[in-house]
Amino acid sequence: MGAVMGHKAWRVVLLLCVLALAAAWCGAAEERARPENPYAGRSDIAEEGRSLLNQYCAHCHGPNAEQGERPRDLRRLNIRYGNDAIVVFWKTVQQGRMDKGMPVWQGVLPDDTLWRIFSFLETIQTQP
Ligand code: HEC
Repeated sequence: MGAVMGHKAWRVVLLLCVLALAAAWCGAAEERARPENPYAGRSDIAEEGRSLLNQYCAHCHGPNAEQGERPRDLRRLNIRYGNDAIVVFWKTVQQGRMDKGMPVWQGVLPDDTLWRIFSFLETIQTQP
């Protein structure tokens, strides 16, 4: 049967292999770029996170992140962004949204402080 397969068919097979490899490589690159919470699953960290949020973020995001204005309501990250909540959180705290009044925190607060705050936020996400 193999001998029946002409040149063209092999070229298609080769092309498919190259595409599969490229897709796998891109997937891996995306996986690497995704931020990771070093405290994921650590419920003991959440309480510290709450107090850090109250110290640094509460005057805009409300005490314990209770805030009625939706664009600033940090309990709605999962509802708004689903699986990408962690990506949006990290990008927003790193780069800020200066045009909207959200400050840049990169270089102001250490990464571990921001991740502690995120760990707290994960425990208070509004259920869909
Ligand atoms: C000076 C006020 C202010 C402070 C302080 C502040 N923020 Fe914000 N933040 C904002 C505003 C305003 C927005 C909404 C921006 C918009 O409309 O897109 C926002 C948005 C965000 C978002 C994106 C919310 C979303 O649903 O897209 C995150 C995450 C966030 N802030 C985290 C933090 C954290 C963590 C802190 C404390 C370390 C903090 N912010 C401190 C004003 C502030």
